[in-house]
Amino acid sequence: MFSSLLSTLSVALAASAAVTTIVPPGLQGTPFQPPPPPDLSGTVTDSDAIASTAEAIDQKSGPSGPPNQPINATTVTAVDGQIITSDSSDDSAPTRRSLRPLARRSPGVYETVFTGSGTGPTDRDASIHGTAFLTFTTVDNSTYNIAACEAFCDGIETCVFVNLFYELNNPHLDAASSNLVCAAYADVHTAAEKTNFGGQQLAPLPAGKTFIQDSSGFAAVSLVDPPTPEGYEFIFGPIAAANNAPGYMGFAFLDRYDVQACAEQCNQRGADSQGGECQFFNIWRALVNGVPTTYTCSMYFIPTDATTADNNGQGSLLVTESRGYRRINAVIDGGFEDFQLCDDFCFATSDSTWIGTSPPGGTDDATIFFFQPFAHNGNAVALLGSADADDALPGTLTPAKPLVTLPGRQYSIAFFQSSSFSPPAQEAAAFVNVLWNGEIVGTIRPGFANFEFFQFTVTAVGHDVLAFNGGAAPAWSFIDDVTVFEL
Ligand SMILES: *[C@@H]1O[C@H](CO)[C@@H](O)[C@H](O)[C@H]1NC(C)=O
Ligand SMILES: *[C@@H]1O[C@H](CO)[C@@H](O)[C@H](O)[C@H]1NC(C)=O
Repeated sequence: MFSSLLSTLSVALAASAAVTTIVPPGLQGTPFQPPPPPDLSGTVTDSDAIASTAEAIDQKSGPSGPPNQPINATTVTAVDGQIITSDSSDDSAPTRRSLRPLARRSPGVYETVFTGSGTGPTDRDASIHGTAFLTFTTVDNSTYNIAACEAFCDGIETCVFVNLFYELNNPHLDAASSNLVCAAYADVHTAAEKTNFGGQQLAPLPAGKTFIQDSSGFAAVSLVDPPTPEGYEFIFGPIAAANNAPGYMGFAFLDRYDVQACAEQCNQRGADSQGGECQFFNIWRALVNGVPTTYTCSMYFIPTDATTADNNGQGSLLVTESRGYRRINAVIDGGFEDFQLCDDFCFATSDSTWIGTSPPGGTDDATIFFFQPFAHNGNAVALLGSADADDALPGTLTPAKPLVTLPGRQYSIAFFQSSSFSPPAQEAAAFVNVLWNGEIVGTIRPGFANFEFFQFTVTAVGHDVLAFNGGAAPAWSFIDDVTVFEL
């Protein structure tokens, strides 16, 4: 019985009249190959990999060589558990728009975090060897010049902490005619991190080895929220918990708490085949045994908020300064979920945010469906190609309003397409044109495909018009989860 049914079906498909045997989407037909149910089980935050990499990484440094070296751009020190051993140049780290990390009011008001040993003949001390070192200078050593050191910090946008100390027997400093060093950091350090005691033979014998005296630390008192990167909105923080929701795409470590650098990681992250582009990032500082150790940038394809931030750390690792940012989708309701005309099965040619149109003579060639079994995510999805198979004309789907975009900026158009409603032979002709201000910027001919991800890059002129044109029933195309993100 079963096999005879199968052979009847294959005969019907092989016949030229096969099209008539397909019950179209508009009549609630069953897809030849239904979309796979969403499966997020493999996408939880890999806290173990983050913690073990944080234990292994060494991002600590301090002054060396001559004073007043230029400040380096923020660098990525690890990606997905792979520690990046410092390559010769930092060209790969884009700093299009440099922003403050743990931002300071300017000019800063400083508090003493720790004081020094004094300068007696036998007094010895240690300077900070810590994360987020920026650069150092020397200040006039006729007094213990705290004010000049704090003014140096004020002059560096990213500085929130300075370490002031004498270093003896260092010819680099003698050349600068002051042995009073002022080292600037983009994070606050404590006396526990006074671990550099000198001991280098920098000056020719018979000069002694370097040593440190009177090492004190000053931190900017009131830190303000860092500016929100362009293309993002601030969602939460600072809190002492990291995001723990699914949709995780991986992590990068940064050498500083740099929200902009984290946004750039998210922008450059390759898309997830099921979840699409990075839509949310969580930046936080890892303290290991109480000491700033690295700055984690975790990326997600599902936006979230503080309610899913419940990871406070593990073992010796503590999560601090955790902030969440959501990427702004220029497309309103890219998932079509605002379409709620019914609660089981219905479709329409438009809703409040999308408009579907048919060419002359066409019927329902671009529609929005409420029907979970057709959708990539959620309950709703768009369809190109006549919903009831009334014609074989392509339809056009466009947002009801032009997109709010910034002229001259690059944007990534991304979406999921499924052409698996009809059997492969009938879907072979499936196509979708992606239009940007009326110009075709990309055409996909996916053949038989079940919700695959597609992406195109465009440049905005402002108030841009996005459209999808395609479908030729029975070569239907479902479109879902449309995003337009600034790059
Ligand atoms: C910047 O990076 C280079 C190369 O890693 C390093 O030699 C230099 O000391 C760094 N500059 C500062 C101010 O740390
Ligand atoms: C200031 O620094 C210079 C250069 O290292 C050193 O020769 C001099 O003795 C220092 N003066 C004081 C008061 O420490």
